[in-house]
Amino acid sequence: MTARRGTTGRTGAVGSAGTAGAVGTIWLVGMMGAGKSAVGARLAERLARPFVDTDAEIARRAGATIAELFATRGEPAFRDLERDAIERVAKGADAVVALGGGAIAQPDAARRLAARGTIVYLRARPETLAARVGEAADRPLLAGLDAAGRVERIAALLAERSPHYESARVTVDTDALDPDGVAARIEEALGVAGRAPVPAATRTVEVPLGERSYPIRIGLDILDQAGAAIAETTKARRVAIVTVPEVGRRYAARLERSLQAAGVTSVRLVVPDGERSKSLRVAAQLFEKLVDFDADRSTAVIALGGGVVGDLAGFVAATWMRGVPFVQVPTTLLAMADASVGGKVAVDLPRGKNLVGAFHQPRLVWMDLATLRSLPRRQRAAGLVEVIKHGVIRDAALFERFERDVERVLDLEPGPTLDVLERSCQIKAEVVGQDERESGLRMILNFGHTLAHAVETLLGYRKLLHGEAVAIGMVFAARRSEALGLAPAGVADRIEALLQRAGLPTALPDLPRRAYLEALRVDKKRKDEHVRFIALRELGKVEIVPLLPAEILPRGAVGRAR
Ligand SMILES: NC(=O)c1ccc[n+]([C@@H]2O[C@H](COP(=O)([O-])OP(=O)(O)OC[C@H]3O[C@@H](n4cnc5c(N)ncnc54)[C@H](O)[C@@H]3O)[C@@H](O)[C@H]2O)c1
Ligand SMILES: [Zn+2]
Repeated sequence: MTARRGTTGRTGAVGSAGTAGAVGTIWLVGMMGAGKSAVGARLAERLARPFVDTDAEIARRAGATIAELFATRGEPAFRDLERDAIERVAKGADAVVALGGGAIAQPDAARRLAARGTIVYLRARPETLAARVGEAADRPLLAGLDAAGRVERIAALLAERSPHYESARVTVDTDALDPDGVAARIEEALGVAGRAPVPAATRTVEVPLGERSYPIRIGLDILDQAGAAIAETTKARRVAIVTVPEVGRRYAARLERSLQAAGVTSVRLVVPDGERSKSLRVAAQLFEKLVDFDADRSTAVIALGGGVVGDLAGFVAATWMRGVPFVQVPTTLLAMADASVGGKVAVDLPRGKNLVGAFHQPRLVWMDLATLRSLPRRQRAAGLVEVIKHGVIRDAALFERFERDVERVLDLEPGPTLDVLERSCQIKAEVVGQDERESGLRMILNFGHTLAHAVETLLGYRKLLHGEAVAIGMVFAARRSEALGLAPAGVADRIEALLQRAGLPTALPDLPRRAYLEALRVDKKRKDEHVRFIALRELGKVEIVPLLPAEILPRGAVGRAR
């Protein structure tokens, strides 16, 4: 097992710890504000272990706050009480323990803790720590300091203690994570994941676009809370919900109730299912409905459904009165992994997909994984391709996670599904944040899509789902990258094996080479005669290489994609 995302290389050292028993008591160390108590409580719950917060324990026994103990008895006396508390915990059953910030810096402490379990360091930048601690009247080491002074003091303490913290077997960077996210990272590094009870967690990923930044909320059974969040982020008192019959029948009433509870009036606009609704004709019908609804510039549009609804409703939101607030409530895995994040909205013309559109970022993306349960398995697998793609292009650890858990994600087991979707959204958010309008970096998201589009054109969009075509295209791109000497041998096999486990097609349909070449030439990503081929360098890393269609598909390549 190699190092996981968000953890240091040192996690490799505990890769063989397959059971909670081998891990022993989990000692959480780190500065004040690192989140030891919050993370510890969540981790203990997930692992069904006792949780001990040594500071709280000491305060309870002494009948005084830590600040009072420091003030009346001094630090050495406090450290004695702390050592006793640790000894008591260590004698009991394997627990999760949040230690005081200075505990591990005491003589011999690291050795004693390591002998009885596993030390995990929750790392964060001084600014993050200071922000989390806030005014902190109860933090004796920060007493009497203003905001700048607190950051400085924390930075100094951190510098002093870092060598002790860094001796932990596992380090997790917590700056961008909520307590559940940190807990999941620890489970992963220690190999104790999966023993956790169903996490009732909600994860948040921020899409960093300055004034247009917005949160993606990912959770299980969170549809009933969408209304309040929509009201807050859009400030709208009236909203139009665009959906398709099947999705509307299952989920719209819950969304409407939660909006109503938040004081928001809604209207449900149902369009026919399928890509054909992504048209100017259906958009025009929606505009008429908005007139009927007396919609104005403060009315928000909500997309409830898959990528078709998202693109269509987004297009309407972008153009109605020159743009109104937009919210995505994606209900397919494809829409969650790809279509709902990034602000690309469009409708099709008879002569081509997505030819009329805009960039119009949503104010909020609300993903309730529970809605995926009604999604047919074939649709789920196809949507998963884009999630796996994010691992292939940007994060080998995410890819490896799939190599372990792809079946569990397909079964929508909450823990692994939340984890991979969160990571996938982080990757998409990061790429979109750096290149909103696809002038450079964002193009890497098209990995596997050059051939996918050709296959879709040639087969006529009916035979294969988009994700299935991308699966074929990714394996092809990886194989071509190997053949061109850009990627190490073997990666294409790994990608193919993983996709096949998800039941996805991977072989290029056996069509004449000249048909493929023709399809590549009309691909809209063409630049002069060259096609911007996204080549694989290694798992987690891609590169844009301009190639001629004939170089992408040399003689003999078709029919031998394997
Ligand atoms: N804007 C972007 O960045 C972007 C990115 C990728 C794809 N797209 C677009 O997304 C579209 C494809 O999206 P899609 O794959 O989600 O297709 P889709 O919206 O047609 O949904 C697929 C099918 O699943 C049904 N469905 C949706 N949610 C369901 C649920 N929870 N339970 C049961 N059935 C459900 C739908 O009714 C539909 O029949 C394409 O038009 C594509 O161009 C856009
Ligand atoms: Zn795609």
